[in-house]
Amino acid sequence: MPIKSRVRTVPHYPKQGIMFRDITTVLKDPIGLRATIDELVRRYKDVKIDKIAGIESRGFIIGTPLAYALGVGFVPIRKKGKLPAETIGHDYALEYGTDRIEIHTDAISKGEKVLLVDDLIATGGTAEAAVILIEKMGGKIIECCFMIDLPDIGGRARLEKRGHKVFALCEFE
Ligand code: PRP
Ligand code: ADE
Repeated sequence: MPIKSRVRTVPHYPKQGIMFRDITTVLKDPIGLRATIDELVRRYKDVKIDKIAGIESRGFIIGTPLAYALGVGFVPIRKKGKLPAETIGHDYALEYGTDRIEIHTDAISKGEKVLLVDDLIATGGTAEAAVILIEKMGGKIIECCFMIDLPDIGGRARLEKRGHKVFALCEFE
């Protein structure tokens, strides 16, 4: 598997007990990078999508080339205080800490079909916060798409319970 086999696992980062799934080893390898974007392009090329929303920061790395390849716009969902114009935000809990994400209030128009992209889903707290923001703006979530799912932590189930489709290129226990 060109993607899963290239993910590096760093035990006890950033905290004791966390198995950090590091995608930099996928991205630095041209085969890994191409396989990642190409597989997502194959999945979404015939799907009607208006915008890709990528979550800071690793979601930007996957979401932007995917948006370019699909010929759709990209909108960033950023950590607190980073976006310059008017925003709405949502607080959420992480696998290791808490945070707040924000989106520009003019990023998504009512009725637009949005693909949410991030590198990884663990608790699903970040993605759920993103979904809440997108829906507040009237966007319709087509699917939530990740490179990596950690199903044992429950994020996928959390999004599916809210009625969202979830896709991941690979899973780790
Ligand atoms: C990581 C990852 C996801 C989120 C997943 O981001 O990129 O966005 O955590 O965790 P969750 O499903 O438990 O919410 P992080 O906040 O570490 O920021 P980064 O992408 O800037 O490293
Ligand atoms: N974000 C939240 N949990 C993570 C993990 N185990 N590895 C990489 N990024 C993460």
